[in-house]
Amino acid sequence: MTDLIATSIDAAVLTLRFNRPDKKNAITGAMYAALAEALRAADSNPAVRVAVITGAGDAFTAGNDLKDFAEDPPKTADAPVFRFMDAMASFSKPVIAAVNGVAVGIGTTLLLHADAAYAVPSAKFSLPFVNLALVPEFASSQLLARFVGLRKAQDLLMTGSAFDAETALKLGLLNAVVPADQLAATVSTMALALAAKPPAALRATKALIRGDLAAIKATIGAEAQVFGERLRSPELQEAVSAFFSKRPPDFSKFN
Ligand code: COA
Repeated sequence: MTDLIATSIDAAVLTLRFNRPDKKNAITGAMYAALAEALRAADSNPAVRVAVITGAGDAFTAGNDLKDFAEDPPKTADAPVFRFMDAMASFSKPVIAAVNGVAVGIGTTLLLHADAAYAVPSAKFSLPFVNLALVPEFASSQLLARFVGLRKAQDLLMTGSAFDAETALKLGLLNAVVPADQLAATVSTMALALAAKPPAALRATKALIRGDLAAIKATIGAEAQVFGERLRSPELQEAVSAFFSKRPPDFSKFN
């Protein structure tokens, strides 16, 4: 088990915290594995009624660890990242995202699988997949449009442009933007309110709102296929090498 994911259970609320603040909580394979395991265990643990996902320090998460993308990409369908996606997409109890800072890539796409989301005013969101020579993941190619409409989903996924918390709120990705010193209390109030609901009715409500889980899983799988191919591309190597060299990428030689 890694200590880069901190877990605690208090008053029927499981809190999962990205705990790698020196790397802006970028997520490694070991962290995905820990998240997947914690969600799976919580799903069948009657002592947990609600899960909260948040980050340590000033970041929510900078998304997938870029070194992992370049050097140790997921190779099989049961790679930790896909186990995490499966566990979160199928999680039967409410999940609340407490976005305490920057939320890149999967930091933003996981909101599409959360049942409520709150963010601090300084939070920044982005889906930079195309800029990394990648494609959308975690069913965001389909689910983002459900939240923001097709035209805006195309814009966000094809430009990879970052947007702020107020924009995320207007787009319908957040329940509220709350001052940093009130984030924990706001999320806790919502978590405790949900934890007090009749649990089977709440699970059934969540399942009905989510809709066709098999279709969501199929989308995750189809995206993963293309994503895996993109991870092996020279375009990806250029994007990652540019990030770590702190220079703009140059895609002019590719066609
Ligand atoms: N993978 C690996 N390391 C990462 C990382 C990532 N996704 N995101 C940040 N880091 C590391 C940086 O390399 C840096 O490490 P160093 O201190 O050893 O140099 C450290 O975390 C701090 O990052 P830095 O870029 O200096 O912080 P910032 O506040 O200026 O910017 C971000 C924060 C998140 C906007 C920026 O780090 C970023 O764009 N990261 C990449 C996000 C990304 O593309 N993720 C993949 C999504 S699919």
